[in-house]
Amino acid sequence: MKKVILDVDTGIDDALAIAYAIKSGQLDLLGITTSFGNVSVEEATRNTLQVLEVMDAAHIPVSMGADKPMARDHLKGKALHVHGENGLGNVELPLPKESKIEMYGVDFLLSKVKEFPNKVTIVAVGALTNVALAIKKDPDFIHLVERIVVMGGAVTVPGNVVPHAEANIYTDPEAADFVFQSGVPLTLVGLDVTLQTLLTKKDAEKWAQSDSPLSKFLLNISKFYMNFYMNENGLEGCGLHDPLAIGAVLDPSLMKTKPMSIRVDLSKELIGKTFEVNGETTPKIDVCLEVDARRFKEHFLTTLS
Ligand code: BDR
Ligand code: CA
Repeated sequence: MKKVILDVDTGIDDALAIAYAIKSGQLDLLGITTSFGNVSVEEATRNTLQVLEVMDAAHIPVSMGADKPMARDHLKGKALHVHGENGLGNVELPLPKESKIEMYGVDFLLSKVKEFPNKVTIVAVGALTNVALAIKKDPDFIHLVERIVVMGGAVTVPGNVVPHAEANIYTDPEAADFVFQSGVPLTLVGLDVTLQTLLTKKDAEKWAQSDSPLSKFLLNISKFYMNFYMNENGLEGCGLHDPLAIGAVLDPSLMKTKPMSIRVDLSKELIGKTFEVNGETTPKIDVCLEVDARRFKEHFLTTLS
């Protein structure tokens, strides 16, 4: 089984991604590291522990990571209108019984890639702060990790949090730019493909037919997320952003990728914009430009039903 660490800012679609990864039965989930973005890092850590407990998967270690962007002292603000006051669509879960582990998230990433050289894939579905700090702390990280699969960016399509930028990159643009330039093997699963995979009310109805606590939870959090997408964008479904990054690990043939040199705009006007540059000095990453959305959604829904 492929060894994986998820790096999350649990949020609704992060929760869907955690559930999908675990239920797939195809991944050896070594642990989950947390950061800020949709909510604070403390809330993301609590949410992650709660999701694991709903899934009877509390044995998976949760390690809290960075609490603020790499090069800025302030947070950009949480996404409460997208993910609810608590980050989980205001769906209340019992307080977690388990606690996070003591080790800092950045050190957890480093320790696992050293324990299993070239065998660990990190699926990063929040800001890239933890990954950037791991590379800064030990530059060998880029040779020890198998690959980083990142949900983030909008290379050929408009952004979501602002017209020019996608939320995860916008939350810590310096970290993202640093990681893209580091030479680490990286697959970018951006809005280019994730907005083609919308979960509709009809899809989510499957979960209404089951009494299991997990199905109820998935249904309720998705309802909140769908309402946001309908009210904000007039879309008949919510983007399966973070779950698609898991999909890219489970079955890379779902995607068509193109090697591209990508930088992040750090200017005031276009902060967080992902754009292609001449590849002579910037390493290439694999940018997902097409997805078999039907096949992905079928697998996602079957796995979680
Ligand atoms: C990304 O931003 C967050 O709000 C979501 O969890 C996802 O990771 C989508 O742009
Ligand atoms: Ca996320």
